[in-house]
Amino acid sequence: MASQSEAVMDRNMAIEAVRVTEAAAIAAERWVGRGDEREADAAAVDAMRTALNRLNIEGTVVIGEGERDEAPMLYIGEKVGAGGPKIDIALDPLEGTTITAKANENAMAVLALAPDGDFLNAPDVYMDKIAIGGGYPDGIIDISAAPDENLEKLAKESGRDIGDLTVCILDRPRHEELIANVRNAGARIFLISDGDIFGVMATSDPDSGIDMYLGSGGAPEGVLAAAALQSIGGQIQGKLLFRNDDEIGRARKLGIDDLDRVYNRDDLASGDVIFCATGVTDGAMLKGVRKFRGGAETHSIVMRSVTGTVREVITKHNFTRKPGWDD
Ligand code: FBP
Repeated sequence: MASQSEAVMDRNMAIEAVRVTEAAAIAAERWVGRGDEREADAAAVDAMRTALNRLNIEGTVVIGEGERDEAPMLYIGEKVGAGGPKIDIALDPLEGTTITAKANENAMAVLALAPDGDFLNAPDVYMDKIAIGGGYPDGIIDISAAPDENLEKLAKESGRDIGDLTVCILDRPRHEELIANVRNAGARIFLISDGDIFGVMATSDPDSGIDMYLGSGGAPEGVLAAAALQSIGGQIQGKLLFRNDDEIGRARKLGIDDLDRVYNRDDLASGDVIFCATGVTDGAMLKGVRKFRGGAETHSIVMRSVTGTVREVITKHNFTRKPGWDD
């Protein structure tokens, strides 16, 4: 007999979810290299919302474009879907708005689905993050410890020297001290301009050459990255960072009382999670949207935590039979 979660998260839902990120990626592609982050984001948001509203779910956005008063669409708490089982939704219609505007690497449309209550209801504030790939014993990373301690433990567990380890960090002035500490510890650094969902996921891909992710980025991106790690393996810890009382108030409104709490992967995203992402621009993990006369090709990754199955999906879209996709 099918378990309750199997009934809710029908396997076909994975393919339905990919349609949603494909639509967002194709819409964002029109804005690649055009220097307009807002238009790129708006196009992806609009397309993702339209596609979500076609799904047979009663969806609630728990990680979205922002809080209700600051985001016109796909705000936290917005209901989407055409009716069906209750599903919580975490989304980032365009992860990498600046990347898209500048036609750089690794922009993607991202979506995660889980039955009610399985994602942290995180406000749109910064989150300090540490992540490593799968296969290591629990507890070898500690977000409150110094980078050299975490690197030492990872080096020991993986049978390598710290000098052989590569840490991915967002290239930001706020990370100056972190970068210096990691370099002093002897590790290499892979600096990224944006896109830390990719940075965290890369730790679980042996081909990426990235062993650890460190630094602060968006809290929503932390939840989405944790959703991906539920399928591909790996550990993440996150701690919300508050810059002012307004951010603290927003967290409290979402039910967060312990402001210093360290969240592990399962606290950020757990249960029967479907995660999918479609490339907008080319990247190490996904190819970007390829337009051709009358259509486009998309490259996506879709995974389900219950089975751990990870699929790559290459789709050829025929715009002549899908009116509205090539507006
Ligand atoms: P956007 O897609 O909203 O532009 O976010 C890109 C991103 O690089 C995220 O991956 C990351 O979590 C966040 O921005 C970091 O924020 P900031 O640019 O303020 O350092």
